[in-house]
Amino acid sequence: MSTLINKKVLVAVTGSIAAYKSVVLVRDLQKAGAEVRVIMTPSATHFVSTLTFSTLTHQPVYTDIISEDGWNSHVELGLWADCMVIAPCTANTLSGMATGRADSIVLAVYLSAKCPVYYAPAMDRDMWKHPSTSHNRDTVRGFGNKEIPVGDGFLASGLTGEGRMAEPADIVNFVSKQLSTKTDLAGKSVLITAGPTREALDPVRFISNKSTGKMGIAIAEAAASRGASVTLVLGPTSIKPVNNKIQVVNVSSADEMYQACITAYPTHDIGIMTAAVADYRPADIATQKIKKKDDDLTIDLERTQDIAKALGSTKQANQILVGFALETQNGIENAKKKVVKKNFDFIVLNSLTDKGAGFAGDTNKITIINAVGDQEAYDLKSKTDVAHDILNYLIKNISKRK
Ligand code: CTP
Repeated sequence: MSTLINKKVLVAVTGSIAAYKSVVLVRDLQKAGAEVRVIMTPSATHFVSTLTFSTLTHQPVYTDIISEDGWNSHVELGLWADCMVIAPCTANTLSGMATGRADSIVLAVYLSAKCPVYYAPAMDRDMWKHPSTSHNRDTVRGFGNKEIPVGDGFLASGLTGEGRMAEPADIVNFVSKQLSTKTDLAGKSVLITAGPTREALDPVRFISNKSTGKMGIAIAEAAASRGASVTLVLGPTSIKPVNNKIQVVNVSSADEMYQACITAYPTHDIGIMTAAVADYRPADIATQKIKKKDDDLTIDLERTQDIAKALGSTKQANQILVGFALETQNGIENAKKKVVKKNFDFIVLNSLTDKGAGFAGDTNKITIINAVGDQEAYDLKSKTDVAHDILNYLIKNISKRK
């Protein structure tokens, strides 16, 4: 059951047919204990009247910065609220948020708000899929705003697909989860490695692996949302974190990743090694493209540095080091050996034999094994939830040591 007791929520309604659901949203927020105020864009009032919301909230509902009562201070509303919920958020308002326009009271309040902002997009399927919308969503999330996921189903246009505003009950759950987010990593610094590495053979070829970096990026996002300052040493991948407070160090080869980590770890409290680092690299990198010959080709490989082992050997008593293991056989046994060999505090095992675990997907199924061999197995979950499970385990571990 969601609770928003003593929370002040500013609901901003923009001009979409989904505005009718915002009436229920306001009621549900109030039922969860929140004090609610509403602002609307003029176009939203074509769908629902200000009277509906002012009757529910017992407060005036502003639709313009200037009204008959005088000048409405947008700064005041933004300071009053514990959070601002833009629901529905139209493509137009989304684009205003991305570019910093202030031509409606909703955008003016958004620009001056000091509180977290959550937005629930509502638009037609094709508008939702347009690259401009994706670009604006990336930009707006990059500013630290949180998107409330859209629904998939019947749309007012008659089309079916993604773009429906989330249901009021889901928005209330989202908001209450966000407002109760822990800041249990505030003051901690976390170094995370993620993604694959590329080991060059010649100017156009390399040896790499299937890692996408998704799990490490999910941990970086989760740690940052819990107050940590995060350095993400990221191998070549098309994915990047959305939270722009995460400091990303882009690297390509195992050696570059090693250098970045050796430099950074001494100033970090926690290291989390999720990267799929190449264990071998070509002994010689050809300066010109290797030309095809009639004979077979043999490539000599030499060992790369083991980054995790190097950090484990310099680890201080006040530092934590977490490893990952992706195994195809004898997972538990192999993972137990790696915890000891690399001086990890614990290791996160994902077995490729588990359906839904491993590279590229959005889910993972893990078992955590600590330095004395204790195991904790988790269910199949989204990588975001897995990231929080790992951080919860880590925090328990830190507090035990103190
Ligand atoms: N790791 C690392 N540097 C390497 C190899 C691995 O930092 N050169 C880290 C990984 O990020 C992971 C842990 O060590 O946290 C275990 O990686 P894994 O590839 O499972 O183990 P390896 O030691 O490479 O052993 P093997 O390939 O034999 O399974």
